[in-house]
Amino acid sequence: MNDQSPIARPEFDPQAAPAPMAMLAELTHRCPLKCPYCSNPLDLARRSEELTTEEWVRVFHEAARMGVLQLHLSGGEPAARRDLPDILTGAVEAGLYSNLITSGVGLTEKTYAELVARGLDHVQLSIQGTDAETADRIGGYRGGFDAKLRVAEWIGASGVPLTVNAVMHRQNLDRLEQTIELAVRLGARRLEIAHTQYHGWAYRNRAALMPTAAQVKRAGEIAREAAVRLKNVLVIDYVTPDHLATYPKPCMGGWGRVGLNVTPTGKVLPCHAAETITALSFDNVRDRPLAEIWERGEAFTAYRGVDWMPDPCKSCDRRFKDWGGCRCQAFAWNGDAATVDPACSKAPNHAQMREAALAEGGEAHQDAFDYRVM
Ligand code: SF4
Ligand code: FES
Repeated sequence: MNDQSPIARPEFDPQAAPAPMAMLAELTHRCPLKCPYCSNPLDLARRSEELTTEEWVRVFHEAARMGVLQLHLSGGEPAARRDLPDILTGAVEAGLYSNLITSGVGLTEKTYAELVARGLDHVQLSIQGTDAETADRIGGYRGGFDAKLRVAEWIGASGVPLTVNAVMHRQNLDRLEQTIELAVRLGARRLEIAHTQYHGWAYRNRAALMPTAAQVKRAGEIAREAAVRLKNVLVIDYVTPDHLATYPKPCMGGWGRVGLNVTPTGKVLPCHAAETITALSFDNVRDRPLAEIWERGEAFTAYRGVDWMPDPCKSCDRRFKDWGGCRCQAFAWNGDAATVDPACSKAPNHAQMREAALAEGGEAHQDAFDYRVM
């Protein structure tokens, strides 16, 4: 058979809502650690307000019907939820690929074994430093580092793939080589070297976290060299921090395009920091179906696609690549999320952002943290 009829391709409409790929479920804000760069909001949700097991499971099924494939179980510390194994079973039954994002602190060997038995697919373990003294000081929790090493052993023994996530900043960036070595030692398949994103608690702690330009330059060299040397051992994901980049990253893969977050109390956010945009209001899974929120919710439609873009974004040939960068960063700097991300070299205040970051990494630096507290 020789069917030469052309294949009909749907026309690309940047304003349409594509099916989301991933959902981040922030099961709780409770966490034994107090990381000063935590991406949780300053105003943390109380336990009594959290979604119940049944509510989470319903949301997972709604997400799966919308086309979500990957579920990231996050927090706070997800292990702070005693019903974590039942939540995981709900995810597995909904047919979602499950990733547990954990600090390791508070996760017991029994609970971990239970999660594996119920079908956990992947673990992402965060590290704050490469030795107990530094890691425990940054995380604000004594004994945290040793707990992580134990958890990494259980993960290795279980055969569940491991990604190590290392949030880097001025106070641990000089130990990047040791961080990479530690990830290899822990048996990770991937290492995310994540420069701190300055929202929420991290924005408050900028002066203690902002690296120097020399540190960032050296870190890039180390990451590139290690990526080549460790090919087939460890995949290294490394992204240059915003203030030293020429163009912004497509934050969240584009607003309302790839993923969504559900907070412990059921609010649905286009990104983990979206609540910092105080001009937006967010729908809740307790009031409205998830699919409707994703497609037509005010927060999702506000900056989806390109219609909202100001000059020069709306005529820029990168607009379908980066989708205008980060709305939260634009709001933090300009008080209006519908403005150019200052990480972009075409933004009117790009130089100002860069200079402020370099000053915070330099003479305006301070060591003390303002720790996250409930
Ligand atoms: Fe991206 Fe806008 Fe900068 Fe172009 S002008 S690179 S679309 S942020
Ligand atoms: Fe919210 Fe970038 S962190 S859009």
